[in-house]
Amino acid sequence: MKYFLTFALFISTLSLSAQNTNVDVESAIDDIIKQLTLEEKVKMCHAQSKFSSPGVERLGIPEIWMSDGPHGVRAEIEWDSWNHAGWTNDSCTAFPALTCLASTFNPELAYKYGVAVGEEARYRKKDILLGPGVNIYRTPLNGRNFEYMGEDPYLASIMCVPYIQGVQTNGVAACVKHYVLNNQEVWRAHIDVNVSDRALHEIYLPAFKAAVQEGGVWSIMGAYNKYNGQHTSHHKVLMNDILKSDWEFDGVVVTDWGSAHDTKEAALYGLDIEMGTGTDGLTSSTENAYDHYYLAKPFLEMIKSGEIDESVVDDKVRRILRLMYRTNMDKSRPFGRKANEEHFAVAREVAQEGIVLLKNNKNFFPLNPDTKQTIAVIGENATRMMTVGGGSSELKTVHEISPLQGLQERFVNANIIHSMGYASGPSQYGRVIPSELDADSLKQAAVKVAQQADIVLFVGGLNKNHEQDCENGDREGLNLPFGQDELLSELMAVNKNVAVILVSGNAVAMPWQSKAKAIVQAWYLGSETGYALADVLSGDINPSGKLPFTFPVSLEDNGAHAFDELSYPGDGEKQVYKEDILVGYRWHDTKKIKPLYAFGYGLSYTSFKINEATTDKTVYGADDEIKLTVQISNVGDVDGAEVIQVYVHDENSSVMRPVKELKAFKKVNLNAEESKQVEITVPVNTFAFYDETKGDWNLEKGSYQLMIGTASNQIKKTIKLSVD
Ligand code: BGC
Repeated sequence: MKYFLTFALFISTLSLSAQNTNVDVESAIDDIIKQLTLEEKVKMCHAQSKFSSPGVERLGIPEIWMSDGPHGVRAEIEWDSWNHAGWTNDSCTAFPALTCLASTFNPELAYKYGVAVGEEARYRKKDILLGPGVNIYRTPLNGRNFEYMGEDPYLASIMCVPYIQGVQTNGVAACVKHYVLNNQEVWRAHIDVNVSDRALHEIYLPAFKAAVQEGGVWSIMGAYNKYNGQHTSHHKVLMNDILKSDWEFDGVVVTDWGSAHDTKEAALYGLDIEMGTGTDGLTSSTENAYDHYYLAKPFLEMIKSGEIDESVVDDKVRRILRLMYRTNMDKSRPFGRKANEEHFAVAREVAQEGIVLLKNNKNFFPLNPDTKQTIAVIGENATRMMTVGGGSSELKTVHEISPLQGLQERFVNANIIHSMGYASGPSQYGRVIPSELDADSLKQAAVKVAQQADIVLFVGGLNKNHEQDCENGDREGLNLPFGQDELLSELMAVNKNVAVILVSGNAVAMPWQSKAKAIVQAWYLGSETGYALADVLSGDINPSGKLPFTFPVSLEDNGAHAFDELSYPGDGEKQVYKEDILVGYRWHDTKKIKPLYAFGYGLSYTSFKINEATTDKTVYGADDEIKLTVQISNVGDVDGAEVIQVYVHDENSSVMRPVKELKAFKKVNLNAEESKQVEITVPVNTFAFYDETKGDWNLEKGSYQLMIGTASNQIKKTIKLSVD
């Protein structure tokens, strides 16, 4: 009783900041730790169910409830199985996938997205939302690229920070994942990644670092894979040295579900909460399974025997309580709300801005909304639900407007006919059930429909089946699956007006590219899919999305695939990232391999012109910020938005450097015929490379170029400057 009163007193009298650690909170935590038994402390370090960790009933310390993430709040899962719990109050807004968010190149939208998804998490009584994912897009085969923010560490950093801040305004912790080097799903549980320190620091770590240092993220999830022989979820270098020491992360490290493998390592190498360990496999557990977790009984015994010092568990509990004071012990946190008009509006806005127009021959799009033409909408993805499947990011949404429905509602005067064209089979986590429909009949029916139509809108791409855009497996190749390439070539043979709308989170090969009248990259757009798509295709919205990763012509053109299988997918045990720092456009530029569509590329219904770009000086010191002024005009007759992209080229480095690296960008709205002067700040210290000989960043004196453009392969102005 005495303890309870003391604790209750602390909770009620403290004025808590939702963002920061403060002195009062730290001393309250000291006091709580003194009151906890060793057993209670250990208990707080591991799961009690699939998605929660226990509190301390005796003292009124709450449980922590978690949920996936990152595109909405996942439906309730049973206490101790992966089955859906069957609640009827857990439908959510499905927001567009993070690849789409990244394509907006609009950090303000990322904040709105974060606030909205955080509100839904809060309403659903979640304390930790498991996202965002910021693993770098290394290969187009990775089944989970759709959950991440593309191939460029700067873009991923700039976009994840406001998402995190937005989520956390709700008193809900974001949990940035999967730290780190989880760049493929094949063999993800054990593959041992070997990568240079330079690539680690320049390519794979920056978004996590930004999440911690700029975003102030309250939790981080380890990954499944190994790095240099040790599992990443309890890793001396990654967790202790880099994350907790160098970056001064004061939050909680959570395992990925089932990524803990050893009690002593978990205890000593930075893991705070162990989740998802199956005592006999990830999907089934024995009774009292949670007591057998690495950070449960075995941990307790090691502390009792003196093998591990009690201060180790105290540090974990301190971090967990700190997260609680920021979330479920912050009495001032808002209540949240879900699946309301505002959230659907945010989802639609992100979708509209993220859609990328890749090709638009003779202004094929926009289609006149009043058209009376016959439009054949062909392809399974015109009607397939994409919030279902894909693994842990699956969602149970209040509604998902299909592309077909969106088109039907916008083009009311058109004669819209739909034909499936191909069938992929139903989606079931972990396995594909082949379709029973006859592929040839589907194809023939679609060709017939295409023959009768004025135009064909082919809505295809990938889906959320295993070995498509889905967790726990990678794609088998770059081409479109389910016979779509052949189908497209037959459709194009009978109809000259075929536009291709790709629903995917990954690049695909396009053998039919030259014959398509238009190509649209439409991602996974969530609840408002069909509306957002119709907004763009009708011209209600002028597209402004830019690719967050390169589309190679063929798989071998991608850096990870330019080497032997040790580079991808590895030999079953280990893997070497042989392209090193040359990921994505860094590889294409440096090796002079033309992409099919470049990083940063995307068309508009209008045209923009960068007229002039100037800097405030020509010689800069290491701590300076370059003040870049860009004059840009919309030279067309519709309003639109362009992304000014600023890349840096090092002219005389002592080490190999990519031809260019993105260091700043700004999305600018311009009315028809409007011109604007845009100020962009570029900190000079971001020109540094990671110097392996020093184990630190190194900014060399010398000549650099700022390359200013509208895509990584469309540089319009170059400015020379030097760093002294
Ligand atoms: C995924 C995580 C996810 C977790 C919980 C894991 O399999 O890798 O991203 O948050 O499951 O569902």
